Amino acid sequence: MSSLLTFLLASLVLIGAVRIVTDVSGSTGAWIHEIHHWLFSPVFYNHFDEDFANAFRNGCNLFDGKWALEEDGSRPLYTEDSCPYLTQPVTCQRNGRPDSTYQRWKWEPRECKLPRFDALMLLRSLRNKRLMFIGDSLQRTQWESMVCLLQSVVPDRRKSVYKDPPRRIFFVEDYNATVEFYWAPFIVESNSDHATKHTVQKRQVRLDSVDKHSKKWEGVDILVFESYVWWMYKPLINATFGSSDVKEYNIFDAYKLALKTWANWLESTFNPQLQKAFFMSLSPTHLWSWEWRPGSKENCFNETYPIQRPFWGAGSSLEMAGTLKDTLQGMKAKVTLLNITQLSEYRKDGHTSVYTERRGKLLTSKEKSQPDIYADCIHWCLPGVPDTWNEILYAYLVYEN
Ligand SMILES: *[C@@H]1O[C@H](CO)[C@@H](O)[C@H](O)[C@H]1NC(C)=O
Ligand SMILES: *[C@@H]1O[C@H](CO)[C@@H](O)[C@H](O)[C@H]1NC(C)=O
Ligand SMILES: *[C@@H]1O[C@H](CO)[C@@H](O)[C@H](O)[C@H]1NC(C)=O
Ligand SMILES: *[C@@H]1O[C@H](CO)[C@@H](O)[C@H](O)[C@H]1NC(C)=O
Repeated sequence: MSSLLTFLLASLVLIGAVRIVTDVSGSTGAWIHEIHHWLFSPVFYNHFDEDFANAFRNGCNLFDGKWALEEDGSRPLYTEDSCPYLTQPVTCQRNGRPDSTYQRWKWEPRECKLPRFDALMLLRSLRNKRLMFIGDSLQRTQWESMVCLLQSVVPDRRKSVYKDPPRRIFFVEDYNATVEFYWAPFIVESNSDHATKHTVQKRQVRLDSVDKHSKKWEGVDILVFESYVWWMYKPLINATFGSSDVKEYNIFDAYKLALKTWANWLESTFNPQLQKAFFMSLSPTHLWSWEWRPGSKENCFNETYPIQRPFWGAGSSLEMAGTLKDTLQGMKAKVTLLNITQLSEYRKDGHTSVYTERRGKLLTSKEKSQPDIYADCIHWCLPGVPDTWNEILYAYLVYEN
């Protein structure tokens, strides 16, 4: 009994010390966090998950499985209130969403159990490194999710988020670790590359040019790419290739050429000893409720539960997915496909729907009452589905070799 008391007292003194020391010096701060973490984690043990490590080494497929509802309070992994960096488009609760079950689903691969997301373990592996998410607003949500997952273990004055367009940057001082988002909705250059004032209607893509962006990607330790929904606006897209003549390309040919341009760049600079690269498979949309509820004519609005049977929506182009897979398989450099499409297909309940903003403003109650026009069934609430994408990315970053 008295030794327990001594331990508790010692811990209290230590918390005091943590406060002081973290305000003073960087690298000391890092290990003090770790002691703090060890003392106050729910379970007092090393969080390296040997069982998962073995299963992963033996090829456990993380993308095949089911969603299970967590009743034990372990979900969500963070809340809208606990993460100061969430932006208004994703905070569905604050924006008036009445249900919250969508935050409590956990992805369970069939063949193994995903390891617990341990922010300190990831920060340790990101020491003196840069992790960069590249793509469109869906990728920005994944970045926001990653920032939220990591930031809780870092004291206020040792972390920051700032903008350096087209980048947004999360920096953790004690680890000299950087987690960035880079806006490039087509990956290759386009007239939609301005981080805020991007052309939406009159898209024009330079299928043979990536240098303007890729100069900023060179030497980044971990690259995570994504690009899909911006290609899917119309069956044709205006583009240039090889000259300055603008022509209409069908989107499948255009996507293939753009990915080839990207692949050539990556192979010309990539150092597999020092770098890792990932590509997110497409993020599904839930625009047509008749796909999961025959006879209905709505969208994702008012959906509160995942789809409970095999499902693949018509918005998820198998041809585009096949092009991405073939491109990656044809490369000499190893780029890991994070195949999150199928698992996200089930989550018709995860979208921001009418609980988001449009042109920088929250929807008005009048707009909210017209979900057929205003519901956003492309983007996701946070906490939510993109957290699972990051739990899978985490598994690769911490457990691969
Ligand atoms: C992605 O995962 C799903 C579900 O396991 C699987 O059916 C599909 O073949 C996978 N796609 C690729 C390109 O590996
Ligand atoms: C901090 O990290 C960057 C890479 O993100 C690296 O270039 C730099 O050398 C690191 N600084 C120190 C002091 O290690
Ligand atoms: C391509 O640009 C031309 C000229 O601006 C326009 O008329 C046409 O509709 C555009 N095509 C597509 C597919 O957007
Ligand atoms: C939303 O769902 C609830 C319960 O399923 C239902 O009572 C309500 O009418 C729905 N609202 C709309 C606008 O469809």
